[in-house]
Amino acid sequence: MKKSLRMFLTLALLMCLAGCGAPRAPQEAEEGLLLGFAQIGSESSWRIGNTKSIQDAAERHGIRLMMADANQKQENEIRALRSFIAYRVDVLAFVPIVEEGWENVLREAKAAGIPVILSDRMISGEIDESLYDVYVGADFLEEGKKAGSYLLRKREELGAGRLRIAEISGTPDSTPALERAAGFRSVIREDARFEIIDSMSGDFLRSKGKECMQQMLARHGRDIDVLYSHNDGMTLGAIEAIEEAGLVPGRDIVIITVDGEQAAVDLLREGKINCVVECTPMLGETVMELAEKLKAGETVPRILHPEETMFTEYDSLEAIAPRGY
Ligand code: AHR
Repeated sequence: MKKSLRMFLTLALLMCLAGCGAPRAPQEAEEGLLLGFAQIGSESSWRIGNTKSIQDAAERHGIRLMMADANQKQENEIRALRSFIAYRVDVLAFVPIVEEGWENVLREAKAAGIPVILSDRMISGEIDESLYDVYVGADFLEEGKKAGSYLLRKREELGAGRLRIAEISGTPDSTPALERAAGFRSVIREDARFEIIDSMSGDFLRSKGKECMQQMLARHGRDIDVLYSHNDGMTLGAIEAIEEAGLVPGRDIVIITVDGEQAAVDLLREGKINCVVECTPMLGETVMELAEKLKAGETVPRILHPEETMFTEYDSLEAIAPRGY
């Protein structure tokens, strides 16, 4: 079958099978590396920035990109990956929405001889490591530890008694939710005054972040000293709820967030957020470099973490460059 016809049919198949946003058509040239990338959706500004970073980098590298949007459903992602395998892409990349459930499709990729890049999120450590080539993304455990270390620094200002923490976590069973929670706890356990009095999943969505905060305020009233939220989107929703309850974010409730979107950095400058742990979505360049190396049969590292930082109320904030997401 002519390659262009095959590509058209595959795209049609992807749209039918994935039951999700139409995959972006590969760029026009039929020569060169073909990368199948399954994205989980567009739940946050962070995610939108991540998708753009992948698309822009593919264009810079002249890599043909087949991109599927799984609309937050693992089954859509798996269907998209199977379609990419059927189309015989050169390299597969995907963002595992949760850690479990990838083994079968990864075995199919391995049987087809297609190298695999895990982008942004990891899969379960239980899985046979030969089923993927490289993970590129944040060290989420470290992010949680940074959030905890900020709180240790803040504690003297918070008084001598119990320090009650409310947590809004990300998508259950996803690497960032699991590890941001674990890293944070590993640090705050140093001080017995810290107590996580409530923890709810806001699925990384602004709307759910607001709902979680409303429910926690209804349960605990003014007895929340600290909010630890696993992403900026949920934090922005939570801040709306806090203000609607007549409280002052950043003062009545200390706010710690993760991502570093422009909106969060702006609120840090206004004093409504106290600490922003950076998680960069700008992974596109590294993903494309890895795809080229894998196609060329070169060895690549198993894990690549981008450099990330943290911005807090104790830092000078003028110098923070525009975030780009
Ligand atoms: O996997 C990274 C997380 O996913 C980001 O923190 C969040 O904003 C996104 O939805």
